[in-house]
Amino acid sequence: MPAAPTTLTAPPAPARGDPVIEVHDLVKRYGKAVVHDGVNLDVYRGEVLSIVGGSGSGKTVLLRQIVGLERPTSGSIRVFGEDPNHLKPAQLQALRNRWGLQFQGGALFSALSVIDNIALPLRELRALPDNLICQAALLKLQMVGLSARDADKMPADLSGGMVKRVALARALALEPELVFLDEPTAGLDPMASDGYVALIRELRRELGLTVVMITHDLDTLVALSDRVAVLADHKVLAAAPIDEVVKVDHPFIHEYFLGERAQRAMQALHPAPGAAQSGEA
Ligand SMILES: Nc1ncnc2c1ncn2[C@@H]1O[C@H](COP(=O)(O)OP(=O)(O)OP(=O)(O)O)[C@@H](O)[C@H]1O
Ligand SMILES: [Mg+2]
Repeated sequence: MPAAPTTLTAPPAPARGDPVIEVHDLVKRYGKAVVHDGVNLDVYRGEVLSIVGGSGSGKTVLLRQIVGLERPTSGSIRVFGEDPNHLKPAQLQALRNRWGLQFQGGALFSALSVIDNIALPLRELRALPDNLICQAALLKLQMVGLSARDADKMPADLSGGMVKRVALARALALEPELVFLDEPTAGLDPMASDGYVALIRELRRELGLTVVMITHDLDTLVALSDRVAVLADHKVLAAAPIDEVVKVDHPFIHEYFLGERAQRAMQALHPAPGAAQSGEA
């Protein structure tokens, strides 16, 4: 094959990490109900990839298959090069220790204090003495912007924003390379939501995390995503930066990205020249 002419080639694309997650031709059915029918999706190291789609489009089911909580009907899934659905229990556990999960709704154990919720994944490892586990859990608590004063509170005594932060601290307990966040800002007021977004940004920068996030919230989506994957018609319609995704001609994309609310969020991404930037010196 002749070599490509060097003078006319485009500048190299920014370095993209290797794929951390590879989903190929995934099919998922419950009886006759089809959820996924040929889903393809790669997630690259270091990126924030957001998954959007209508309610019931299969976002959570996709995530549950990626982490090995549910088996695909057919197709293949690889995370860090391994198929979670074809591993022995001990191998699957070792793989699971490389990611953290924040479930839809937060899902803290109501009978456990904040610190015990965060310490749980560490205790399950059975590899560390309890004083070290408590120190590590306290560190995670501080990492998500809470303090030692919150350690002994019970989940029922926390605000919605605090519940999300504790759930995130628990997801980070094993110092994962990859985190899955299912609707992390759902139900938060705008200020709590902005605070959470800033926290994810900071953690991602400091820890070099790869983040897979499911969200309905456009402000969160715009503020955090490197790429957005749109789940509709049982497939991933597009997985690209928001600017490209909005150009895809599909009713869900029109409705989701081109409505009035969406336009406001998109303006935050590309402020009009000369527009005042509130809050800046
Ligand atoms: N265990 C199950 N058995 C049968 N059907 C299921 C099961 N789990 C999920 N489903 C169905 O799969 C479809 C996709 O569900 P999923 O929870 O992934 O939706 P979602 O996109 O996360 O929605 P939402 O935005 O409301 O969270 C739904 O129709 C749901 O009823
Ligand atoms: Mg869901």
